Amino acid sequence: MIDRRLKFVNTLEKFLTTKIPEWQSPLPFEEPPAFAEDFDVALPCFALAKLRKESPQKCAEWVSELVSAEKAQLGVKRAEVLKGFLNIQMETEQLSKALGSRFDDPLGESRTALKGEKALIEFSSPNIAKPFGIGHLRSTNIGAAISRIYKALGSEVIRINHLGDWGTQFGKIITAYKRFGSAEFVKGDPVNNLYKLYVTYHEKEAEDPALLDEAREWFAKLEAGDSEAVELWKWFKDVSYHEFKRLYDRLGVDFDYVTGESFYSELMPKTIERLEKQGLLVESEGARIVDLEAEGMPPCIVVKSDGSTIYATRDLSTAEYRAKTFQFTRMVYVVGGEQILHFRQFLKVLEKMGYAWAKNCTHVSFGLIKFPEGKMSSRKGNLVLLESVLDQAESEALTIVREKNADKPQDRKLSETEEAEVAKRVGMGAVIFFDLHAKRTKDIMFDWKTILNFEGDSGPYLQYSVVRLNSLLERATTEGLKFSKKDIPELETLEERALARKLLRFPAVVEAAAREYEPSIISHELLDLAAVFNRFYMNVPVLKGEEKLRAGRMQLIAFTKSVLQLGLGLLGIQSPERM
Ligand code: ARG
Repeated sequence: MIDRRLKFVNTLEKFLTTKIPEWQSPLPFEEPPAFAEDFDVALPCFALAKLRKESPQKCAEWVSELVSAEKAQLGVKRAEVLKGFLNIQMETEQLSKALGSRFDDPLGESRTALKGEKALIEFSSPNIAKPFGIGHLRSTNIGAAISRIYKALGSEVIRINHLGDWGTQFGKIITAYKRFGSAEFVKGDPVNNLYKLYVTYHEKEAEDPALLDEAREWFAKLEAGDSEAVELWKWFKDVSYHEFKRLYDRLGVDFDYVTGESFYSELMPKTIERLEKQGLLVESEGARIVDLEAEGMPPCIVVKSDGSTIYATRDLSTAEYRAKTFQFTRMVYVVGGEQILHFRQFLKVLEKMGYAWAKNCTHVSFGLIKFPEGKMSSRKGNLVLLESVLDQAESEALTIVREKNADKPQDRKLSETEEAEVAKRVGMGAVIFFDLHAKRTKDIMFDWKTILNFEGDSGPYLQYSVVRLNSLLERATTEGLKFSKKDIPELETLEERALARKLLRFPAVVEAAAREYEPSIISHELLDLAAVFNRFYMNVPVLKGEEKLRAGRMQLIAFTKSVLQLGLGLLGIQSPERM
């Protein structure tokens, strides 16, 4: 992944496409492979070979001659052909300058890459009166990261939490509350106890099917605005959100709108009417459906045979409302992979309704977080309590932070309050990074060892890297070295060049993460960056040498820290200054 807007890449491209008119932009520039790391750009010549009906090797040699003839003008130091590839090493000054131009903002021109966009991002969306599950945690972290990424690239972003607060289950919860619950019971532990009532309801319904009629009646009352039903429902919603909010605060997540499904329910009759008028609704076994056979999908049920509407109906109305209200350029739903069919269905229905914006809607799905059998999992209903996961992360982080702190010299020890503060950040960082480092569509196995491993591919490892960079910078300053953004690194060594290249591609990486709705692209880049940095640090004596050289190196380190921090920040991870 090369940032194609780098000046020297641009210059090369312009030169080559002018000299070789049949080779059209974008040329396939690549990062050179590890064994050729003294080069900065690699250019495979296979496509060109096809065009010219020559061997790739011959083509590469020809291109190499062209480039070599204009070396000085192109800022090229060396060009070499290897197996159909042309590897190019730039004059160091080219890299240094490019790097220096990013010191004010590691994202450079990418800051405005998505200017003019209005992205509506729906994520988290837990169901009220049910514990916040680990799946909602994934939606929350992925959605919040995507929101930050889009914002960083200049898009307007609207974050929506689409609470599950409507549907026949609320008739059941009200019935259960009236029959088996009490205000005291709910107040004791609102979400868990409401959920217990819901579970009890189902046990009782199995013995006494008449309960279902009662539940239906309560939901009908709720829909009709009956004051008792509405009041209970509102209360359940308030106490639930109050608890969810606690989690959002710990995770550092915010929304612009918290608008539950109920909000859109009164729009449903109009949606049904439109479907009707367009001739899209057909009767099937008493239900009214949109047939999707031609699309190879089961029908999208809009009205059930008992006349009630469902999840899909609400989603249709919701999307219509949002298109009208926000005029988004894209809408993203961050929802688990088990709902893929649902999204394909109702998005297809919107398309059939003739909405051009339907093609700008995307379901960003994700895999499950699995738990090793017997641990953590398996309350009744198999919901894992997220809060206990966060608590445990924090307390395990605290143990590690304390251990590390104990080894420190007296004058560098953290106070107890600092330890707790660091543990908070590390605990959350650990969970968030774990969640965001796997490709989102993959299932992941929950494992404390990986999550909190300070040496492994983990959040704490990256946080710790930032802290180490920080203390290096502090040390240099204490030793009287002054450096600033004006100190352009000289990039003398291979390791420095590799680090510079890594830092230069960061904007392109963030853009790729946006394009693919894939925060893990950033997570991986940060791990790579830390590794490239470590190698630089192991091999280059950063505090030795003449002043100008050292200042440039310190500035390189300071910039590395900025990029790491920016990247972690996009994922939602705060790095402590010390730990
Ligand atoms: N509340 C739903 C659930 O937990 C997720 C909502 C997803 N968003 C949507 N527009 N359907 O399963």
